[in-house]
Amino acid sequence: MQIHHTIAATRAALADVGRIVFVPTMGNLHDGHIALMRQARAHGDCVVASIFVNRLQFRPGEDFEKYPRTLEPDCERLRTAGVDHLFAPDEQELYPVPQRYVIEPPAEHANILEGEIRPGHFRGVATVVMKLFSVVQPQAALFGKKDYQQFMVLSDMVREFSIPIEVIPGETVRADDGLALSSRNGYLSAQERAEAPNLFRVLSHVVDSVRKRRRDFAALEQEAVAELRGRGWVPDYVALRKKDDLQSPSAHDSGLVVLAAARLGSTRLIDNLEV
Ligand code: PAF
Repeated sequence: MQIHHTIAATRAALADVGRIVFVPTMGNLHDGHIALMRQARAHGDCVVASIFVNRLQFRPGEDFEKYPRTLEPDCERLRTAGVDHLFAPDEQELYPVPQRYVIEPPAEHANILEGEIRPGHFRGVATVVMKLFSVVQPQAALFGKKDYQQFMVLSDMVREFSIPIEVIPGETVRADDGLALSSRNGYLSAQERAEAPNLFRVLSHVVDSVRKRRRDFAALEQEAVAELRGRGWVPDYVALRKKDDLQSPSAHDSGLVVLAAARLGSTRLIDNLEV
């Protein structure tokens, strides 16, 4: 695997490598990322990953400074997963001057759910992804559905700007007990780790109920929130939404997804399940 720290070196190395499939990350890689890398291999000739902890998508007080920087073990994992090139710039390289030009996703996508709790988050994500696209110039890019709203916002951005990149969804990878793999799981204590799969269990119950034709969505959401609270979680939301635009469904809508974010101790976990 070739590792590039500058935009110029990345562009030069990728000039003639066939169809590029790109998997952007912020590092601290786990098996979910590695599954995305392996999936990427099936979609092109050259798999390019990036590692960049993007200050723009963190708000003051979020974990930007303490976000784990683990470049060496990450490189080892990427190598083993068969990644061809890694773009790992430092902040000075990607943001040599404060970024003034930004991508502002529409409020109805960016200011709901995660965006309501983390204002400006999706502006930061969309802006860095646009910048990474301009460096790597891939033909396809993979984004995990674990971050469902991010996947939706970025797919929409690519479509609306007519960017010639195929956006491919990556399935969420789960531990045997159902917990979605996430860099944040590493922050859980042993006791919290034992409790954490209940988020998946509560979401699975919502999915089962909808499949059994329950249509009182607000009541289902409230029951899920109450169950999590009763178990000691602090939920930000449990929300049944339409898959394509994450707006609230009416009783006859199909194609739904249930999304949740909740704090367990000091760790905030998110998860979702398609109905
Ligand atoms: O999902 C992530 O790791 C980040 O939001 C991304 C897409 C790499 C942008 O910084």
